Amino acid sequence: MRSAVARLIRSSPSASPSRLSLSPVLQKSGNAFSNNAASMDAKHIKEPFKVEEAETVKVPPPSPDKLLVLGGSGFVGSHVCKEALDRGLFVSSLNRSGKPSISESWVEKVVWNQGNLLEPASLKDAMDDVFAVVSCVGGFGSNSFMYKINGTANINAVRAAAEKGVKRFVYVSAADFGLVNYLLQGYYEGKRAAEAELLSKFTYGGVILRPGFIHGTRRLGGVRIPLGLVGSPMQMVLQNARPLTRLPLVGPLLTPPVSVATVAKVAVRAATDPVFPPGIVDVYGIMRYREQK
Ligand SMILES: NC(=O)c1ccc[n+]([C@@H]2O[C@H](COP(=O)([O-])OP(=O)(O)OC[C@H]3O[C@@H](n4cnc5c(N)ncnc54)[C@H](OP(=O)(O)O)[C@@H]3O)[C@@H](O)[C@H]2O)c1
Repeated sequence: MRSAVARLIRSSPSASPSRLSLSPVLQKSGNAFSNNAASMDAKHIKEPFKVEEAETVKVPPPSPDKLLVLGGSGFVGSHVCKEALDRGLFVSSLNRSGKPSISESWVEKVVWNQGNLLEPASLKDAMDDVFAVVSCVGGFGSNSFMYKINGTANINAVRAAAEKGVKRFVYVSAADFGLVNYLLQGYYEGKRAAEAELLSKFTYGGVILRPGFIHGTRRLGGVRIPLGLVGSPMQMVLQNARPLTRLPLVGPLLTPPVSVATVAKVAVRAATDPVFPPGIVDVYGIMRYREQK
């Protein structure tokens, strides 16, 4: 939709409303000077306004309450959708299978788009009029698959969002795990490639969250798996043991887990708060932001 911003340019500053009214003294006197002044001002009033088109804006600015969640049906994405809805945002999701077949009330409040991040053409429409994107798309498999889904897919999303004028982009990435990085090379190389693209395209509005293990209740088919039973106690123990993470080789494995509700809360805040600083937020940063109102 095209919208034109028109500017009224007055033919003479004397036509301003403050100049159109005569002082009470002059109005009462009825002398020649006051008549002259009145006729001069009347002349100015009759002059037509010149209307000049100053600027044409092709795309209206996106509404600040429209959030697109990539992978809104997944473990992290579904919590991001719920958190955003709780904050009164308009939420849409894009994932390959579209609307998930679970009967929870929040599902009905999200607009579900079917699309594949590996087919960039399928995600452009979903980005229309969107203020911010949170990407929760990632996964495991062979090294080449992991590079594609964590890297290429998210790079495509970042580029499409930048082209569409999206203001903020949050990517749920992952913490380094030392030795594990070598075993999951495609996963980490993909994550870092997507991060680099995000930082270059969204210098002021790009946020990368790097949690370690995320716990909460994960759905697998119809089954709910309470990962918090393991994750919460680990988090309690490890969140205060930061120096241990600096130990060579095994240190990064001691990165504290964090709850999925915390990741979702910080992701939505990073996507909507214009003063949330751009850049990388590690697990300790995520826990710190969780405490902030
Ligand atoms: N879970 C953890 O402990 C953990 C820890 C650290 C970091 N992370 C990161 O957090 C992010 C979310 O993880 P998660 O556990 O929530 O994953 P998940 O449950 O597997 O969810 C992945 C989501 O992405 C969608 N998706 C997959 N491939 C897609 C594609 N090609 N195009 C569009 N959508 C696609 C899936 O829906 P469809 O199948 O319908 O497409 C699903 O909605 C990932 O980047 C992951 O690496 C997770």
